[in-house]
Amino acid sequence: MTEAVTEPVTVTEKSAANQPTQNRCVLITGATGAIGGALANAYAATGTHLVLHGRQQEKLEAIANTCRQQGAQVTLSTIDLTDDHALQGWLAELCADQVPDIVIANAGKNTHPQGPALLEPWEDVQALLDINLKTPIAMVQHLVPAMQARGSGQLVLISSLAAWHGLPTTPSYSASKAGIKAYGEGLRGLLAPHNIGVTVVMPGYVTSPMCEAMPGPKPWEWPPERAAKVIKRGITANRARISFPFPLNFGTWWLAVLPAGISQWLIKRLGFNHPGDTPHD
Ligand SMILES: NC(=O)c1ccc[n+]([C@@H]2O[C@H](COP(=O)([O-])OP(=O)(O)OC[C@H]3O[C@@H](n4cnc5c(N)ncnc54)[C@H](OP(=O)(O)O)[C@@H]3O)[C@@H](O)[C@H]2O)c1
Repeated sequence: MTEAVTEPVTVTEKSAANQPTQNRCVLITGATGAIGGALANAYAATGTHLVLHGRQQEKLEAIANTCRQQGAQVTLSTIDLTDDHALQGWLAELCADQVPDIVIANAGKNTHPQGPALLEPWEDVQALLDINLKTPIAMVQHLVPAMQARGSGQLVLISSLAAWHGLPTTPSYSASKAGIKAYGEGLRGLLAPHNIGVTVVMPGYVTSPMCEAMPGPKPWEWPPERAAKVIKRGITANRARISFPFPLNFGTWWLAVLPAGISQWLIKRLGFNHPGDTPHD
């Protein structure tokens, strides 16, 4: 599924010191999703080797074809990311060929309570923690030694604005995204001496199947292409955190710094309790 690059390199943007501007390899998981697909498109260019992961073969092939038309070399994978043995084998195989320069651990899922005062189904919670939290950490474990040996790399972990303060509409999702945010923040300092950058991305609402399935209001929803543009720009600059859109980021950031009682009251007022509840009681 690999295609050779024959055209001259056209990547001209100025990147941080830990990222090459030509002949680079970009790995994106969740490439069959809205944000992952838009990121694949944003990175597709001559001189870029895209490694795209998704479970839906046909959708993945369609995205790969679009990226190839833009000059990118594309390699695909549909392995089970939550199977650590399979994940380790796949990443070792990739690194033997070309150590990825930018790794965007984007695959993720959501779950929510099925009714007022009901917990999320435990099977769903376990599957969510596996893909949202354990898989990105496993990817870091398996990729960092190769990046350290080369002396460069960029790890991108997709969190959410739901990481600023847990939401009653999505408690487990909030926990997974707060966990990956904290992990990425810690990792950044740890890996900086090795010239490996770590970026935590905290999107607000971005139009996608996952977003559509989420209960609660969705203010300042962005199209995935806009999100991908902002994410790519932040990655290129090796930003520690990319959070958007500004008004929602600012509002949800306050939820993390205000006294917890006030934040809880605000969350209820704003309608982020279970949709079966009355927002203002
Ligand atoms: N959209 C938003 O409003 C929003 C806001 C904040 C953060 N995020 C985060 O952004 C990331 C991308 O989400 P999205 O909005 O683009 O959603 P999406 O369109 O539903 O895409 C989700 C992607 O994750 C993949 N995925 C889910 N579970 C998987 C598993 N167990 N193994 C392998 N791949 C799996 C899906 O693959 P398949 O196609 O094979 O199912 C799909 O490619 C997620 O981490 C999400 O939490 C999204």
